[in-house]
Amino acid sequence: MSSEYAAAMRLAEEIAREAGELILRGEQDRSGERPLVESTKSSPTDVVTAMDRAVEDLLRARLAAARPGDAVLGEEAGGQAGRTGYTWVLDPIDGTVNYLYRIPAYAVSVALVTGDPTVPGAWQPVAACVHQPATGATWTAAQGEGAYLGERRLRLGPVPELSQALVATGFGYRKQRRTGQARVLTGVLPQIRDIRRIGSAALDLCGVATGTVDAYYERGVNVWDIAAAALVLAEAGGSLRGLRGAPAGPEMVVAAGDPLLDDLVDLLTDLDADQDPAAE
Ligand code: IPD
Ligand code: CA
Repeated sequence: MSSEYAAAMRLAEEIAREAGELILRGEQDRSGERPLVESTKSSPTDVVTAMDRAVEDLLRARLAAARPGDAVLGEEAGGQAGRTGYTWVLDPIDGTVNYLYRIPAYAVSVALVTGDPTVPGAWQPVAACVHQPATGATWTAAQGEGAYLGERRLRLGPVPELSQALVATGFGYRKQRRTGQARVLTGVLPQIRDIRRIGSAALDLCGVATGTVDAYYERGVNVWDIAAAALVLAEAGGSLRGLRGAPAGPEMVVAAGDPLLDDLVDLLTDLDADQDPAAE
């Protein structure tokens, strides 16, 4: 591998691993206490820990040193303009609630994208790393260069039919959104093998790429949740999209290999899974 995107991928991996070490050191130092919650966002259960901020600060500092001209968009500290046409899209801890409860399913997600990451369908990931500190699992991908879990090249195998599919999903933090997601779930569950709620959209998508789940859908995810793992999945041979011809985005993300993806999109469209119930 020698492309510019492969070099960006190696940088993404280096800083995601360094971030992972920071998280694990914090865990050792805390001797059994819950991580510190500093504030909340969309609801009282949508928390920001001191570690979310510390990790994003570290990633931003490393990127400012290595690629000072690039823009950055991070979950906790927002956007910072650049001049190269490239943007680093960062989720310092995807799966913050798992991190809070010491469930290992949380990840550092680092992606380099072209285009405008704030507009669904207007951005394209070109280099990516999703690193799971608690297990050491590390997914990497560069556009046109394949996707890897550690050293292992990922290639999607044959996909099952919908009735046999193990499908990951997630739920938002606000009550109204969740009410709609619960309704959709009652329509999805009888049509599939089973559901998994792993708690990190990045790991859900990497799970589809790796074959530990067959598909993933969720309404309400942000670009930093999916940017890196979208490239891992695409380079493994899967894809993501929204409903009714829309690109994957906050309205809806559906991910799988074909033809399962089509069948799940059809089911979710019939269930109006991209709609919220009327406010109470
Ligand atoms: C959340 C996780 C979760 C998903 C939520 C996301 P966060 O990200 O990816 O699995 O269901 O929609 O907001 O808050 O842990 O960074
Ligand atoms: Ca996230």
